[in-house]
Amino acid sequence: MATFAPPPGTADIFEEEASEWRFLENAAREVFSRYGYGELRTPVFEYTELFQRGLGGETEVVQKEMYTFADRGGRSLTLRPEGTAGVMRALSNTDVLNGVEQRVYYMGPMFRGERPAAGRRRQFHQIGVENVGRCAPLLDAECLAMLRAFLKRIGLDDAELVINTRGVREDRPAAEKVLREYFSQHIGEMCEDCRTRLERNIWRILDCKQENCGKIIAGAPEYLEYFSQESRDYFSSVCEALDALGVSYRVEPRLVRGLDYYVHTVFELTHPALGAQTAIAGGGRYELFLPGQNRPVPGVGFAAGVERLLLARQALEKSGTVENAAAYLVGLTPAMRVANLALANRLREAGLKVALELEERSFKAQLRGANKSGAKIAVIRGEDEANRGVAVVKNMADGTQTELPEAELFEYIRREAVETPK
Ligand code: HAM
Repeated sequence: MATFAPPPGTADIFEEEASEWRFLENAAREVFSRYGYGELRTPVFEYTELFQRGLGGETEVVQKEMYTFADRGGRSLTLRPEGTAGVMRALSNTDVLNGVEQRVYYMGPMFRGERPAAGRRRQFHQIGVENVGRCAPLLDAECLAMLRAFLKRIGLDDAELVINTRGVREDRPAAEKVLREYFSQHIGEMCEDCRTRLERNIWRILDCKQENCGKIIAGAPEYLEYFSQESRDYFSSVCEALDALGVSYRVEPRLVRGLDYYVHTVFELTHPALGAQTAIAGGGRYELFLPGQNRPVPGVGFAAGVERLLLARQALEKSGTVENAAAYLVGLTPAMRVANLALANRLREAGLKVALELEERSFKAQLRGANKSGAKIAVIRGEDEANRGVAVVKNMADGTQTELPEAELFEYIRREAVETPK
């Protein structure tokens, strides 16, 4: 069957939705720049090694979801599955390695070979930020306050924030021991993947989405008490700062997140409109190892999924509409249509959204076009009007008509169709 559908898990974004995207992107730019963040645009593909090393070889993303290919020179490249690793690579060319703080935000497509579903795409889009180079609890709290401010700005104040700590890497063996004892007793009832995780990376079990495994995970021991004093103090300071900032949250003692670069604070946001299983944003503090470096670079950040933010906004009926043309130009003769094209250009240059018929069409068909366009005003001109330097303006809502000097058209359309609310 012939089909014009794009590949599974991808989508064409038409104007009605694209206007919503611009709204989100503009809101992000506005909020993030107040916190001192500047934009960084990185490539859509990177060397595969960057993600393998940066995100962790045992993660679902690296093991199962990456779009990896060899270029013509035989180098392995991967379409970025997330933004943090590329941002860190780019920032490593700056002073961050010497502890100088950098604040950047980014937005754009990411690629993961997941099973497509509502709010789960193979090409999806993130709006994210990274605060790189320094490590302090207040930086984590500020980052979360900014995420809250962004969500408020786009009408998603109801998002629920859950946070946890992953401690520092040195803390993990003691906690792993406790987890291993627990999961070893239950592994017979768990999924195939969890059995492998028990051997290779036990933390990944906590991130399993299988229903059966979920029940067992819910009973797993809380491992915070096995973390070092330093890690627990760090986490307390983050929570205290959030309290002081009035940022609401819930501590979820088994939240680990799906990427291996996290240390200390991790968090996820969900929205009631999408349910607790679907995160609209996630992030945390991390230490990322870049290829060829043996010292990790610290940072804190988050990424929100644009498609999911839009689903939440749609559920709240906050979705966008296409802006209609303010005026539609109707020409009574072929010569007038040429004149109308010139008039349309002048009005557009002056800042008005104007539509017109450019093919040979009857007067009636042109008025139908005016109706369809949603324009408030039709501007009608024949040779006679043109010779006298006037135009007939028709109010499409009530059908009334008046004649106006051409020189007054711009002001009239602006006043009647742009400034007057519907
Ligand atoms: P992540 O949790 O993998 O984190 O993704 C962040 C957000 O991207 C998710 O909460 C979700 O809204 C969206 N997302 C992920 N996968 C899909 C998908 N297949 N379809 C639609 N939306 C999706 C990261 O990517 C980290 N880099 C975040 C971060 C930044 N951590 C520190 N800095």
